[in-house]
Amino acid sequence: MNLSRHYLVWSLAYVAVGMALGIYMAGSHNHSQHVTHAHILLVGFVVSFIYAVIHKLWLGARATLLGKVQLFAHQAGALMMFSGLFLLYGAIVPPEQIEPVLATSTFVVFGAALLMIIMALKQPSADA
Ligand code: HEM
Ligand code: HEM
Repeated sequence: MNLSRHYLVWSLAYVAVGMALGIYMAGSHNHSQHVTHAHILLVGFVVSFIYAVIHKLWLGARATLLGKVQLFAHQAGALMMFSGLFLLYGAIVPPEQIEPVLATSTFVVFGAALLMIIMALKQPSADA
């Protein structure tokens, strides 16, 4: 499986989880998890889908070590972020306990975005 397909599968998993949470919120009239829902769909579904398209159109089919590290970082950071947001907005864990997890997750997701920029810039030809 190449990295584009990996990202596509992750992206589609997030759309299912994010929409299910949206339907739960709408049905229960309890919108307290709307930030979790928004980030599962945007950082999870939308950003993963865009990374799948970048791999497909510009980075080629060969999975490089940097590409694998970038995929792992985005998904590990995203899962940490979504679990942290769920625990925070569900009032399951107090803010002071979950904030270090959330802060770490944002730097990991941000680091993955920087790695994607590096990979795109390293690509010799824009239409390769
Ligand atoms: C089955 C599909 C979906 C359902 C049932 C659903 C349901 C909801 C509900 C109930 C809210 C809370 C509204 C509020 O309290 O203000 C919400 C917020 C939100 N949804 Fe969805 N949603 C769905 C799909 C999506 C998708 C596909 C995206 C993005 C790709 C998305 C992005 C957002 C965002 C960004 C917010 C936060 C808006 C804000 O707080 O201003 N949703 N959604
Ligand atoms: C490192 C990554 C990110 C961090 C640290 C972050 C942080 C935040 C924070 C603190 C809020 C305000 C939550 C609140 O209302 O209490 C927020 C809201 C929001 N973020 Fe992010 N975000 C990140 C990535 C993204 C990305 C990549 C997108 C879109 C592609 C996005 C879309 C949104 C939207 C639409 C809202 C409003 C949602 C709402 O009010 O429910 N975020 N974000």
